[in-house]
Amino acid sequence: MDFGRLVCRSRSHRGFDERHVIERETLRTLVGYARLSPSSANLQVLKYYLSNEEETNRLIRPHLRWAGRLKGLQLPREGEQPTAYIVILMDHEIAPRGGRFLIDVGIAAQTILLGAAEMGLGGCMIGAFDPDAVHGALGLHERLEPVLVLALGKGLDQIVIEEAQSGEIAYWRDGEDVHHVPKRPLGELIVND
Ligand SMILES: Cc1cc2nc3c(=O)[nH]c(=O)nc-3n(C[C@H](O)[C@H](O)[C@H](O)COP(=O)(O)O)c2cc1C
Repeated sequence: MDFGRLVCRSRSHRGFDERHVIERETLRTLVGYARLSPSSANLQVLKYYLSNEEETNRLIRPHLRWAGRLKGLQLPREGEQPTAYIVILMDHEIAPRGGRFLIDVGIAAQTILLGAAEMGLGGCMIGAFDPDAVHGALGLHERLEPVLVLALGKGLDQIVIEEAQSGEIAYWRDGEDVHHVPKRPLGELIVND
C-alpha cells in the first residue's frame, strides 16, 4: 500500500469486531517489525507481552481507559472489545534509569500499528492504564515495567481526519457515530515555512 494511504488508514480505533481472531503469529510478526526499528544507543530496552486469547485479554481489559475526551461515552461498546493486545514493557535491567526511552516506545508502537494497518487491522495506543494492575495481573517479572498497551482487532470505527479550525483539536463524534479527528494544518507545524 502507498505509504501516505497507510498512514491515513492507521487511525485509533475504539470498537472492534470480536469475531475476528488475531493469531499469535500475527502479533509475533508485528513485534518483529518493532525489533528492526531504531533504538536509542541500540540498547533495545523493550520487551513485549502478547495476548490474543480471552484468558489473558480479560486480565488486561479492566485496566485500560479509553477516549477520555468523549465524556459520557463508554468505549469500546459492549461486544466490541479488541481481540488482542501487545503490552510494551521497559526492561529495567537493560534501560539505565533516567534514560529517554519513551521515544523508543513511541517508535515501536507506531511501527506495530502501521504494520497492523497494512494487514487490515485497527488498533489504539493506550497510555491511560494502570501499570501496576497490569503488571500484577500478568504476573510479570519485577524488572519489566508496562509502559504502553496496544489494543488490536478488526476496527469497526468510521473515522475521518479533518483540518483543525481555530486551534480546536478535540476529537469528537457526530450523531451518526462518525469519529472526527482534527489535525493542525501543516503551516502551523513547520516553524520556518
Ligand atoms: C502515547 C499515546 C497514548 C494514548 N493513549 C490513549 C488512551 O489511553 N486511550 C485512548 O482512547 N486513546 C489513546 N491514544 C490515542 C489518541 O487519542 C489518538 O492518537 C488521537 O486522538 C488522534 O487520533 P488518531 O490516532 O486517529 O490520529 C493515545 C495516543 C498516544 C500517541
